[in-house]
Amino acid sequence: MMTKGQLRRAWQRPLYPNVTVLLGDPRLPDLSKRDGRFHEEDLAACAAMKAAFASLPGYAFRYLDDHSTMLDELRTGPLQFVINFCDTGFCNDPLRELNLPAYLEMLGVPYSGAPPAALVLAWDKSVTRAAAAALGIAVPREVWIGPQDDVAAALPEEYPAFVKPACGDGSVGITQASIVHDRCAAEQRVRAVRAQLPGRAMLVQEFLCGTEYGVGVIGNPERALTVLPPLEVDYSALDPALPRLLGFESKAIPDSPYWSQIRFREARLDASARALMEVAATTMFARLGLRDYGRFDFRADAEGRIKFLECNPNPAWANDGKLAYMAGFAGLSYADMLRLILEAAQARCATEAGGAMAIPDRAG
Ligand SMILES: Nc1ncnc2c1ncn2[C@@H]1O[C@H](COP(=O)(O)OP(=O)(O)O)[C@@H](O)[C@H]1O
Ligand SMILES: [Mg+2]
Repeated sequence: MMTKGQLRRAWQRPLYPNVTVLLGDPRLPDLSKRDGRFHEEDLAACAAMKAAFASLPGYAFRYLDDHSTMLDELRTGPLQFVINFCDTGFCNDPLRELNLPAYLEMLGVPYSGAPPAALVLAWDKSVTRAAAAALGIAVPREVWIGPQDDVAAALPEEYPAFVKPACGDGSVGITQASIVHDRCAAEQRVRAVRAQLPGRAMLVQEFLCGTEYGVGVIGNPERALTVLPPLEVDYSALDPALPRLLGFESKAIPDSPYWSQIRFREARLDASARALMEVAATTMFARLGLRDYGRFDFRADAEGRIKFLECNPNPAWANDGKLAYMAGFAGLSYADMLRLILEAAQARCATEAGGAMAIPDRAG
């Protein structure tokens, strides 16, 4: 972990001063949000991000959020460097999150964040889990149930269990009902989420009832990869009658107790537990081919054994997101966090292009 002082000293002159930022389209439906659309809290997060970027010296930022014209704007430029903060997917379709970076690659434009291949791998939590297990990282036991599979025949014997879509973001399909205490409830839950997300495979996992952690990473393995101080989910103020989980309500429903009563704090960990998660996070970052920044979720089982849950390439950039909390634990402001992501991405792209001076400037 670099100290705040070291991070500050690492400030560098912009390699690509003209930055175009891609965002989700607030005009279009977004099924990962409450009532399927953008709300004032989303616009406030966007305004805070723009204000923080504006405070960074030496850069000029331009924002594209209209997806009806975005591809034409990207094709015709001018473009020097793109920050891909479009974590909703093209046209706010999560299945098309990888299409924008794929398009930027075809255009030859340097951009921040994960390439399409990493987005594909991380989208499927069962694939990610298999990769982690193969690397010796502890993972929950699970069964995978395909969209056409006979649910009853596939169910595990062990309960309580946790039912969730095998692929997804923003906890769509994850609620209190995800925790099931017997086969009958598990079968009902799989069928209910199948109806909500047709064609999506399901996971029935060992229920991890212990402490939940997040680990944030900024940088790249070939230069410097900074692991931010891990975060712990604080459920102590949550109504004791409610099951402990970060489901859809915690991310999208402001009047839910899951939104208002759950806090994030710096994790209280001994050195070995911290090292275990740091190694798991940086190993998975490299294995899945993430770039510039990433976030990893873990949760402990009943014996306190910490297990890897999932990997988030291009994690939420919002000022109230988990990554911003972790940056805060390191003494960094939100603008510092955005600057570090921007610098990591630009340094990587400049190296890939053979040095900043050799970059073809598409009139940026
Ligand atoms: N096997 C599990 N046991 C206990 N809780 C789980 C399990 N899997 C997921 N959760 C809970 O559900 C939340 C969301 O699951 P996660 O797999 O991280 O999906 P998302 O992409 O929606 O963040 C987690 O933060 C955790 O609270
Ligand atoms: Mg998660």
